[in-house]
Amino acid sequence: MPATEPVLILGIESSCDDTAAAVLRDGRVLSNVVAGQEAHRIWGGVVPELASRAHQEQIVPVVNQALREAGVEASDLDAIAYTNGPGLIGALLVGACFARSMAQALGKPLVAVNHLEAHVLAHFIQDRSDQPVPAFPFLNLTVSGGHTQFILVQAADRMEVIGTTLDDAAGEAFDKGAKVLGLPYPGGPLIDRMARGGDARRFALPSPSLPGLDLSFSGIKTAFANLVRKETARDPGFVAHELPSLCASLQQCIVTELLTRLRRAAREHRLKQVGISGGVSANSALREGAMALAKEEGWDLFLPPLPYCTDNAAMVAMAGRFAFRAGRHASLDTVPYARG
Ligand code: KG4
Ligand code: ZN
Repeated sequence: MPATEPVLILGIESSCDDTAAAVLRDGRVLSNVVAGQEAHRIWGGVVPELASRAHQEQIVPVVNQALREAGVEASDLDAIAYTNGPGLIGALLVGACFARSMAQALGKPLVAVNHLEAHVLAHFIQDRSDQPVPAFPFLNLTVSGGHTQFILVQAADRMEVIGTTLDDAAGEAFDKGAKVLGLPYPGGPLIDRMARGGDARRFALPSPSLPGLDLSFSGIKTAFANLVRKETARDPGFVAHELPSLCASLQQCIVTELLTRLRRAAREHRLKQVGISGGVSANSALREGAMALAKEEGWDLFLPPLPYCTDNAAMVAMAGRFAFRAGRHASLDTVPYARG
């Protein structure tokens, strides 16, 4: 098709515990449907087998709803994009098999998308017509439940990891901290909400301070668990009395670790175009801290609107659009991968 014609693309996301589908016309979102999975709440984390089953149940209604809300027929689509990895392999297979069958039945091109690249390219989703988008090259902090990485984004298909967590992802630190407090999974959004009434300086937690651009969250997690255990042994009502300040202290510690390294990465690479994306980029303290830092450092800061921070298919369609335009189509024997 001519390069100037808008691309109508369906995105499908099923890498973890959200079944999602979205329709984009170029960068503009026509629909964005996300069905979460309640089944994992009581287990304190995602149970892979339950995730695959829930995807299987939800994928047809979710895709139908996305097409209906966009007001388009499947036959109108120019391409179908889906997440091919990394993620839970059983969950990925549901989306991949569905996308492949649909593309084959309709005779449409198929585009395989890397989930982490999709989080980065979420910055190009146009929710409003006047929304600024980053210019290449830019620095991105991708911060989610599975990953925490600094990425030098040279182009949509040229991304280099320049720093990463050496142990847990930041989202995992939020979720595990929440579990220690007896909160259900995923705990990140609950910590964010409860921290609002708390004092972030009430409990001191260690700062890992690794040299370079790598990060670490396991020391923070262990110190937090030890603090809660020790104080609860002395006073069984400790968590109930101190919940907001416990949440605020943990959140502050994680956010500080992220933002000090982000500043270092931007300075070292002399970049003023800076983005943060992935589930944890929905965190209000991280967003506020990043905005203050952007002012100090003179950055153009990009934070996706909240629906495009956590897992969604609009970002998959967006990444798919870049790949489709570049002629990078998937073949029918493309196989999903768990890591990468
Ligand atoms: O990007 P995402 O939806 O899935 C992955 O690719 O991992 O990220 C999910 C992570 C979870 O750890 C969740 O607790 C965290 O993002 N999260 C938050 C917030 N919203 C989601 N963490 C802190 N504050 C939030 N508001
Ligand atoms: Zn994700």
